[in-house]
Amino acid sequence: MWAGRHVVVGVTGGIASYKSCHLVRRLSEAGARVDVVLTRGAAEFVRPLTFEALSGRPVLTSLWEPDRALAHVRLGRECDLIIVAPATAHAVARLAHGMADDFLTALLLAATAPVLLAPAMNDEMYAAAPTEANLAALVRRGFATVGPERGPLAEGASDRPGRMSEPEVILHHAARVLRRGSALAGRRVLVTAGPTREPLDPVRVMTNRSSGKMGYRIAQAAWHRGAEVTLISGPSTEPDPIGVAVERIETTAELEAAVARALPAADVLVMAAAPADYRPADVLDRKRPRQEGSLTIALEPTKDVLLGTRSLRRTGAVIVGFALETGDAAEKAAAKLVRKGLDLIVANDALEPGAGFEVDTNRVTVLDRDGGRHPLPFGSKAAVAEGILDLVEVRLG
Ligand code: CTP
Repeated sequence: MWAGRHVVVGVTGGIASYKSCHLVRRLSEAGARVDVVLTRGAAEFVRPLTFEALSGRPVLTSLWEPDRALAHVRLGRECDLIIVAPATAHAVARLAHGMADDFLTALLLAATAPVLLAPAMNDEMYAAAPTEANLAALVRRGFATVGPERGPLAEGASDRPGRMSEPEVILHHAARVLRRGSALAGRRVLVTAGPTREPLDPVRVMTNRSSGKMGYRIAQAAWHRGAEVTLISGPSTEPDPIGVAVERIETTAELEAAVARALPAADVLVMAAAPADYRPADVLDRKRPRQEGSLTIALEPTKDVLLGTRSLRRTGAVIVGFALETGDAAEKAAAKLVRKGLDLIVANDALEPGAGFEVDTNRVTVLDRDGGRHPLPFGSKAAVAEGILDLVEVRLG
């Protein structure tokens, strides 16, 4: 997503500017060309040399350098995105009033690129009426904001917002701003992920090796594309995707109930979960003691959640299933696509190296209901998620 993108990071004079070093580094590592613009105050906190080393490019600070005349106007028009982090109360006030007395404010006044502000300031300053009015004016002008968050401030603990969002969180919000205009923007996307856990007794469960990674990456990528995303997740150690409403379930029956509640409003369903097909027929209410000889446990089938959603789907909704197979993945997936009434099915082979459960990479072929086959390049699950959503967007039209 960031490769080849041109991002301007404006840093204003707040203590949080040390975190902007990490933000610049992450953007550069991800392949973006990053131009850092410092205000005079920011240069008091972090030396320009630090940002030059991290971005590999000269840092811009002054309007008055002879060979950079009009660079501020050009930059704000040529770049793909401008992030101001931290945006202090003073910087927010200057921007809201259209001041243009240094490189950063002049650039922002002339900019046509989208802007994301990460405010950071003392909690009283953030709560003050002028700051509120200034930020509201900038939001009306089309600027996006992230944070501030509650948590420790330079002057001590506070339970009120003021602290700048972490660089990782800013990056996800920046991705959403960058992807404005995607076909998924404003759509409701429902994603399921992870395994289910079927109890045998209060201590033991039956589960599978699904990590949830693929579904979590899809939920995050859909949010980047502007969708309103709900993720229904079985037990997973993955961190919650930023911006996504996460609902936790344990059993296939709970998954079925959660999907039934959310699906009628959804424009897209991506069923990446790996629900158990069977559950113990008798769940004991006490821990089963060890006994002599072998043990046979009777299992009963669970419902096929995806199949059962047919009557709940909105007209025009795009329904995506997964098929994890061990051999002949595409043929078996094609049959499932028809049986479950899907628009797309993502087929992968658990026996292929680097694909399937518990790894960060995947190799999949997406089949569509019109007989199209779309092999996606081998890559990270994040990259595969983008490929799957590209095909969802085609079907959304
Ligand atoms: N699925 C579901 N409910 C189940 C089992 C699977 O909704 N009880 C969904 C999965 O989330 C996936 C799709 O159905 O999107 C295919 O899952 P898979 O386990 O490959 O298919 P099954 O229909 O269970 O077929 P089989 O296990 O016989 O291969």
